[in-house]
Amino acid sequence: MLVASNRGPVSYSVREDGSLAARRGGGGVVSGLSAIGPDAGALWVCSALGDGDREAVRRGVGEDGVRMLDIPADIHSDAYNGIANSVLWFVHHMLYQTPLEPVFDTEFRRQWAAYEAYNRAFATALAEEAAEGAAVLVQDYHLCLAPGMLRELRPDLRIGHFSHTPWAPADYFRMLPDDIARQVLDGMLGADRLGFLTRRWADAFTACCADLVGGLGDTRVGVHGLGADADFLRKRAHEPDVGERMAALREEIGPGRRTVVRVDRTELSKNIVRGLLAFRQLLDDHPEWRGRVVHVAFAYPSRQDLAVYRDYTAEVERLAAEINAGYGTDDWTPVVLHVKDDFARSLAAYRLADVALVNPIRDGMNLVAKEVPVVSDEGCALVLSREAGAHAELGEDAITVNPYDVVQTAEALHEALTMPAGERAERVKRLAAAATALPPAQWFLDQLNALVEAD
Ligand code: G6P
Repeated sequence: MLVASNRGPVSYSVREDGSLAARRGGGGVVSGLSAIGPDAGALWVCSALGDGDREAVRRGVGEDGVRMLDIPADIHSDAYNGIANSVLWFVHHMLYQTPLEPVFDTEFRRQWAAYEAYNRAFATALAEEAAEGAAVLVQDYHLCLAPGMLRELRPDLRIGHFSHTPWAPADYFRMLPDDIARQVLDGMLGADRLGFLTRRWADAFTACCADLVGGLGDTRVGVHGLGADADFLRKRAHEPDVGERMAALREEIGPGRRTVVRVDRTELSKNIVRGLLAFRQLLDDHPEWRGRVVHVAFAYPSRQDLAVYRDYTAEVERLAAEINAGYGTDDWTPVVLHVKDDFARSLAAYRLADVALVNPIRDGMNLVAKEVPVVSDEGCALVLSREAGAHAELGEDAITVNPYDVVQTAEALHEALTMPAGERAERVKRLAAAATALPPAQWFLDQLNALVEAD
């Protein structure tokens, strides 16, 4: 069995003394796939993502069961930053802002050629590594063309592809140049089986195929809703480093105050800015919360090579500071924002959460919505965007919001903060059960079984 994804389970940086430091990759794909573990006998083919990774490939450093592809840096950057994260991510999350975007010009065509080369590098490596009849699970929008390319090289393989993002509605997807839109769909249809996180995204893909390439052909489409890993999370959340961070965070929050917690990558689709606006609205509409609630917002720096991400991160920081300057007092800081990659601190925030705010504009699943109810000590209330994939499974026990409506979101925060303890406890129990219905290891096996059984 082989797995292919842009980001692998580990990435390296070079320390000052020249040695290599390894750290776990972030994001939904890695969270889901890490459950496979090195003992499963799978080979995980991924891309070297920076100088540290490239150095690791050169020195032959690596983990068992992982092959990192050293794709030339300029090809990788055009494919990953240019096409995957600036075009395909924006299409599926419907993030473009007319009148400036999108513009598909000759620069786009040049980057598209890199995206093709990048996909071909994966297809070639997979074709080299795969045993006769092996199952290959290709992951996400970075690798839409690889299934079709691999199919040509190795017709004997069982090929699956899984999308961790939403899929764009057909009318929006058609924004792509016609030939490119068809190439994406045909590339994916090179797989025997395609997986999506919710029925909604699977149906959107099917609609795009009906619209642009005359249907799905022989490819099967299935839904596998990745859940949270309760055993791992509960154990990890009670390790000493998390305890230390809880103590520090309690200091920052101040005694007796309620918490509205969010944890995201610094990502436009996560809608952190409107979350802050909603929190400010809460303080305006319900001044009784002033001094009594703190918005804890932790953000992991993400895709900082792209100006639009850097600008977004700066806007989040600016707005948090503005709220603190406008509303804060000597002993109350309304927004505690940290932009840093610190998993232990995120777990500390989960444990202290009274309310979890998960308000993405669009999200394939959103694992934070599933993780906080599992970990929170007192049982948190969940304010959840109807546009997150997780809403399909958690909607009944969450407080649902339209992510664009900051007045409604503020009201939802108020409702969550005033929810009677008994009701909150009941709901969080059901939320945690739904959130862990398909833990990562099972999610992965389901995909694999469905692929192997597909005729
Ligand atoms: C999302 C995508 C993943 C990606 C992750 C982190 O979850 O679906 O494919 O790995 O974001 O983003 P990054 O660009 O840092 O890999």
